[in-house]
Formats: sequence, C-alpha cells, structure tokens
Amino acid sequence: MKLFLDTANISEIRAANAAGLINGVTTNPSLLAKEKLPIKETIIEICELVDGPISAEVLNISTTESIIAEAEDIAKWHRNIIVKIPCTLAGIAAAKILESRGIQTNITLVFSANQVLLAAKANASFISPFVGRLDDVGENGLLMIANSLEIIRKHNFKSQIIVASVRSPLTVVQAAQLGAHVATVPYKILEQMIKHPLTDAGIKKFEEDWKNARL
Ligand code: G3P
Repeated sequence: MKLFLDTANISEIRAANAAGLINGVTTNPSLLAKEKLPIKETIIEICELVDGPISAEVLNISTTESIIAEAEDIAKWHRNIIVKIPCTLAGIAAAKILESRGIQTNITLVFSANQVLLAAKANASFISPFVGRLDDVGENGLLMIANSLEIIRKHNFKSQIIVASVRSPLTVVQAAQLGAHVATVPYKILEQMIKHPLTDAGIKKFEEDWKNARL
C-alpha cells in the first residue's frame, strides 16, 4: 500500500520525504488555506519535493466545461500533478474527458460505493473516499472502503482507492489489511504510526543496562 501525506505544509512534507516514507501528497482547499501561501507556487514546490502523484483541487466546479478548463491549466503546472475533482455529475463527466486526454484525476469527497462505481466507470486514476467524515456521522467508513475495493477488483477498474480523512493510525492498518491502494495521512498520524511506548521504554532500558555494565 502506498502512503501519501495529506497536507500542504512544506516542513511536514520535507520531513516525511527525507525519511523516505511517502509516495505522494494530497492537498485540498482547506489544507492550502491553512498555510496562507500562494496556491500555485506551493503546489509546484510540493511537486519538486516529492516525485509522485500530487493532488491539486479544482475550484471552478459549476460546469463540466469550467472544471475541464481549470484542470487543464492546473495540469500544466507540473508533470506530477493529479487534478482533484469533487464527486458531482459535472465532475465525473469532466474526469472522463480529462483522462481520455491524458490528464490524471482524483475524484474526491466520495462517501458511497455508488460514487466509487461511477468514478471508476469514468476511468478516474484515483478515487478518495473520506473514512473519518463517514464515521463522524455514524456510518462505517471502513466498510465502505471494503465494498469499494470489491467493486474495483471484481470489475478490473484501473482506479486506485485512496483512503482519505484518516483520523487514527488504526485506520491505516485496517486500510492496508483490506488491500487499499493508498492511504493518505496527516503528518501527525505518520508520527503516531512509528511511536510505541514499549519501543521508547526498551531503548531507555538498553541504554541504562549498557552504561551500568561498563561502570
Ligand atoms: O484527504 C481528505 C482529508 O483532507 C479530509 O480530512 O480530517 O478534514 O476529514 P478531514
């Protein structure tokens, strides 16, 4: 399973990338707004840092034509860019045309297996179901991922499922167990994944025992 970092923070991306831990980055308008930096320059900087799929979202989503026009512009910024498009009828129609023109898409704000099926039929390269936000409203996000992966595999769709809106390290393990193609995680989750109190305690004990033995 590939790991993407779900952030637009350059320091976090540098740190995760230096550790060789990430295969790509996902951004969204909220994450970019948090950084208070110019969008285009930030996305290009991320693309230069990480040589993998970098998702950048379209904002002019009123019609298929407006989505295609903005997506074609964004795609020219860098060869690593995947254009992220919200899961609407106009968005799905745009994704189908963009993919046929060689522009890779990531259908986002996906909350049902039916949406996954339609995005897959549009040949979207990536589809991003939001697990945490489904759990927030009392639904089972992981079950939706399992159903989506079954559909993708049974019908041999090319789309890769990105497990998004990840709120806990356990979700990453569960996504991997289900065979998801990608999980995109905030930096904090990446830190939590490596941490274990018994590892820290074990290191401390080894150091103490080693020092005492040499007294
Ligand atoms: O990748 C989508 C993600 O950024 C949404 O996460 O925590 O805002 O639901 P969250």
